[in-house]
Amino acid sequence: MADQTYDYDVLIIGAGPGGYVAAIRAAQLGLKTACAESRETLGGTCLNVGCIPSKAMLHASEYFEAAAGGMMAKLGIKVSPELDLDTMHGQRRDAVKQLTGGVEFLFKKNKVTWLKDRASFVDAHTVKVGGETVTAKNVVIATGSSVTPLPGVEVDNAKGVVVDSTGALELPAVPKKMVVIGGGVIGLELGSVWRRLGAEVIVVEYLDQLLPGMDGDVRKEAAKIFKKQGMELKLGTKVTGVSVKGKKATLTLEPAAGGDAETLEADCVLVSIGRRPNTEGLGLENIGLETNQRGQIETGEDFRTAVDGVWAIGDVIPGPMLAHKAEDEGIAVAENIAGQTGIVNHNVIPSVVYTMPEIAGVGLTEEAAKEKGYAIKAGKFPMLANSRAKTNHEPDGFVKVIADANTDRVLGVWMIASVAGTMIAQAAQAMEFGATSEDIAYTCHAHPTHAEALKEAAMAVQGKPIHI
Ligand code: FAD
Ligand code: NAI
Repeated sequence: MADQTYDYDVLIIGAGPGGYVAAIRAAQLGLKTACAESRETLGGTCLNVGCIPSKAMLHASEYFEAAAGGMMAKLGIKVSPELDLDTMHGQRRDAVKQLTGGVEFLFKKNKVTWLKDRASFVDAHTVKVGGETVTAKNVVIATGSSVTPLPGVEVDNAKGVVVDSTGALELPAVPKKMVVIGGGVIGLELGSVWRRLGAEVIVVEYLDQLLPGMDGDVRKEAAKIFKKQGMELKLGTKVTGVSVKGKKATLTLEPAAGGDAETLEADCVLVSIGRRPNTEGLGLENIGLETNQRGQIETGEDFRTAVDGVWAIGDVIPGPMLAHKAEDEGIAVAENIAGQTGIVNHNVIPSVVYTMPEIAGVGLTEEAAKEKGYAIKAGKFPMLANSRAKTNHEPDGFVKVIADANTDRVLGVWMIASVAGTMIAQAAQAMEFGATSEDIAYTCHAHPTHAEALKEAAMAVQGKPIHI
C-alpha cells in the first residue's frame, strides 16, 4: 500500500539498466512504483543504443571476419563470404526489440507503472511528467548519460559523415576510411566492427596510450594487437577541427604535446571521447540539488542525495559508466528505500571491452595499487601457453593477477583473452570473497579451458606456474 499522502512510494526517472532494475526490485519489495521514461522503448542507453546493439554488431562482424580473414580456412572450412549489411542491421534491431519488449513485459508482470514522458522536479516529492504531475515519497534519479560533444565538431547521425556511437551503429554502408576520435571503449569496439567489415580505420587518441584507466600492461598489449589487426593508431594526437564537404570530412590533427598540424580525410568520423551525465531540464534547481564539477550528482554510499527523499544511481553519479554497476545500484537503492541494507562494493566492478580478443579487468591496476602504497606481487600467464586458446588459434593476450605482497590478497586481475569477458566473473567473485592468489591457484579448474590461464597467473604470483 502506498503512503496515502503520495501517488507512489517510489518514482524512478529513467528506465535504463539502473532505473528499470530499481523499479522492478522496488515493486518486488511491495512498494507502489512508477518509472518515467521519455524514450519510446524501455532499457535506456544500454538496450537501445549501447551495450546490446554494439554487441550484436560485434558478434556478427566477428563471424564475417572469421570467414573473410582466414580463420575458417585455418580450421579447414572453405567459405567465400558476402556481406549482407541490411540483414546484419536487421538482427541487431531485432535483438534490441526483443530485449526492450522484455523489460516492458517485466514492468507489467511486476505492476510498475510506466509514465511515458520527460520528467522534471517541481519539488522534492512532486514531478512533472509531460502534462501530468505526480507525487512520490521517494524519487530516484536514474537519467544516465549522453555523448560528450567535441567543441567545434558537429555530429549529424542522419548524414552519416560525422557520427557518434548511435550513428556508428546504423551506418547504411561500410565506409572506405573511418577516423575514430578517442581510443576508449566505444572507439575500439565500434572501430573494430567497421574494420572487420572492410573499412580502413584510424584511431586518434589524445593520450599516449589507448584505454585510460586500464592496467598499463594491458593497454600496451592492446595497442599491439589492434595494430596487428590493421588499425592505425595515432596516439598522443588531438583533433582540433573537422570540416565536412558533401560526403567527405577533413580533420585537423595536432600532436598533443604541440607541433605541426596535419590533415586527414575520411568518409566517416566517429566522435567517441566520453559521455556526460544527463541532468539538463531535470529541474534540479527546484529542489536545490547541485551537481559536482563533472556534472554528476553526488550521493552517499546508500545512494541518498543531499535532498531528503531524492536518490540517484547509474551513469548520473560518480563511478564507471557501466550497465552492471547501474543495475547493482538499482537493486541497492530499492532495498535501501524499502528499509533494507543495499550495498554495492565499488572496489569490485569488472569492466570488459568486447573486441577480439576481449579485454577485461577488475580491482586495482598495478599502477593504482602502487600509488595506494601497496607492496605488490604480480603473476602473468600468456594465452599462448593455454592449451585451449592455442588449440582454438587464439594465442593473443595474457592474464595478470596482482596480489598484496604481505597478505597475498588479490587486489586486481587484468586480462586480454578471446573470452576475457566471461573469465573475469571468476576473478570478481574471488575478490568479493577476499581470495588470496593461493586460493585461486589451488581451485581446481576444468581442462581444457581458457580459465586455466587465471589459475596459472595466480600460481605465477608465487613464481610457480606449470606451463611456462
Ligand atoms: P541510461 O541507460 O542512460 O538510461 C537513462 C534513461 O533515462 C534513458 O533511457 C533516458 O531516455 C532517460 N531519461 C533521461 N532523462 C530523463 C527525464 N528527464 N525524464 C524521463 N526519462 C529520462 N556498459 C556496459 O556495462 N557494457 C557494455 O557493453 C556497454 N556498451 C556500451 C556501448 C555503447 C555504444 C554505449 C553508448 C554505452 C555502453 N555501455 C556499456 C554503457 C551503458 O550503456 C551505461 O553505463 C548504462 O546504460 C547506464 O545506465 P543508466 O540506467 O544509468 O542510464
Ligand atoms: P572513454 O572514456 O572510454 O574513451 C574516450 C577516449 O577519448 C579517452 O581515451 C580520451 O583520452 C580520448 N579523448 C578525449 N578527448 C579527445 C580528443 N579531443 N581527441 C582525441 N582523443 C580524445 O569514452 P567512450 O569510448 O566514449 O565511452 C563512453 C563510456 O561508455 C565509457 O566510459 C564506458 O564506460 C561506456 N562504454 C562501455 C562499454 C563496455 O563496457 N564494453 C562499451 C562502450 C561504452
